[in-house]
Amino acid sequence: MLEIGGLLKEGKGKRLYATNDPDTCVVYFKDEAMAFHGLKRGRILGKGEVNNAVCKHIFEMLTEKGVENHFIRQLDARQSLVKRVEIVPFAVKVRNIVAGSLARRIGYPIGTKLDTTVLECVLRSAEDGDDPLVNTTHILAMKLATEEEVNQMLAMARRVNEILVSYMREINIEVIDFKLEFGRYHGKIILADEITPDTARFWDARTHEPLDIDRFRRDLGNVEQAYQEVLHRMMGEE
Ligand code: C5P
Repeated sequence: MLEIGGLLKEGKGKRLYATNDPDTCVVYFKDEAMAFHGLKRGRILGKGEVNNAVCKHIFEMLTEKGVENHFIRQLDARQSLVKRVEIVPFAVKVRNIVAGSLARRIGYPIGTKLDTTVLECVLRSAEDGDDPLVNTTHILAMKLATEEEVNQMLAMARRVNEILVSYMREINIEVIDFKLEFGRYHGKIILADEITPDTARFWDARTHEPLDIDRFRRDLGNVEQAYQEVLHRMMGEE
């Protein structure tokens, strides 16, 4: 019998609880939203339920396609059981179209299509500003991961992108960019964390309107509706 234990960690959009099995933990998806490193806070009603369902859908699809990840099963509307991993201390951002910090850094207009996929490794930063960009030499010098692990993560990020872009195209959503986190599970690198409108930029393919956290960040309105819309389309309820 699964027993849910103490709080392990609380992040922007989730809480992580221990269980009576040292190999698993429980993710609880919150409605709270945060942007600009905590400077802007709010609530997106129903977001927790949407993100839990979106993660289940995407992670199960990735498992089917051979991308190992932490998802085990959904427990209820807001909680899922996942493998308990040691999180690798840098994230990988995957970009197909220019937006956000990349637009600021390279000066290309938002919406510019990138001919080849851009992968960025970033350290998590508590500061107000963009997450510090690091390359493989920084990661090795800081002993954050081995070269083999970095290569595995980048290859997995490309594969996730291929799968996600082609799936989302079918439901008329453009995948602009997203952020991935990885973990070590019994010595092996697997995909962890979440893939949701909280950690990705999803645009309606017809109108190019954001269907993601940018609606909250930029006060665009209809935030709840945008999250629900992504889930409806995934469930074939468009
Ligand atoms: O802000 P930036 O353009 O670098 O973000 C790229 C992608 O990573 C966006 O989809 C954004 O929502 C996501 N991201 C995230 N968590 C952060 C920073 C960015 O999920 N701390």
